[in-house]
Amino acid sequence: MSHPGRLEGKTAIITGAGMGLGEGIARKFVDEGANVLLFDISEEHGQKVADSLPRAKAVFYKGDVTDLEHWEGALKASLDHFGGLDIVVNNAGVVHRSGPSPAVPRSEYDRIMSINITPLYQSAKAIHPHFAAQHSGVFVNLSSISAPRPRPNLVWYAGSKGAVSAITKGLAAEFAPDGVRCNAICPVVAETGMVREVLGGTDTVEGRQGLTRGIPLGRFATPWDVACAACFLASEEAGFITGVELPVDGGRALN
Ligand SMILES: NC(=O)c1ccc[n+]([C@@H]2O[C@H](COP(=O)([O-])OP(=O)(O)OC[C@H]3O[C@@H](n4cnc5c(N)ncnc54)[C@H](O)[C@@H]3O)[C@@H](O)[C@H]2O)c1
Repeated sequence: MSHPGRLEGKTAIITGAGMGLGEGIARKFVDEGANVLLFDISEEHGQKVADSLPRAKAVFYKGDVTDLEHWEGALKASLDHFGGLDIVVNNAGVVHRSGPSPAVPRSEYDRIMSINITPLYQSAKAIHPHFAAQHSGVFVNLSSISAPRPRPNLVWYAGSKGAVSAITKGLAAEFAPDGVRCNAICPVVAETGMVREVLGGTDTVEGRQGLTRGIPLGRFATPWDVACAACFLASEEAGFITGVELPVDGGRALN
């Protein structure tokens, strides 16, 4: 007997859906019955993912997640295309090249703080009124296991994700009376374009082995691992869960 998808009838905005974890989340959400608005700054990548999904279920929206007007446009596009909005996945994010913290250029520091944190502010401003008016809605925010467990050389990135985790929990408490849930996911290093930067700019077997040694389950995360966690947190199955940071880290935080 086939079961309805976990997200049947729901509509989600997924930022950074043009590749990596965001693409995986978009594919899983469509598999589970959701309509998805793929919000990405890269038209090339975002449109390609949209074209590979059923036309009625996925639409690309070009925008910058740090820009309030683009969030307002994403809400409007979601309402126009799909007739509603139930879920926002704040996934778009960037990392700096792993290295000594004082040597990271100020421009990189600013880029990390802006792209990783500001979208939570902008999405709260643009989307929360819509969620509050319908007395339901879910934010799923991509933090990182480096937020609760920072390690050397990715400190500014970990700091930006610490802000994501703290903001998620604060908004969870503040928005709960409006029927709005906010949760964070904390992945360990995942198999995406970010790996090279996490390894200091060169993707080597030895570098990967070094990272894997710190993960008890013995491998990197995959987009699928993260997408399944995002799907659960976005679904009614997690209807009584708000303000959590869910590690998807193969036990890395245990070390
Ligand atoms: N890959 C990992 O190892 C890892 C681990 C923990 C957490 N995360 C987090 O997961 C999220 C996704 O990471 P990923 O590895 O899939 O990244 P990625 O680099 O593979 O993809 C990021 C996507 O975001 C888009 N994007 C970047 N800046 C944008 C902007 N200003 N506006 C709109 N779109 C923008 C890019 O075009 C790209 O499609 C990030 O928040 C990241 O910090 C990743």
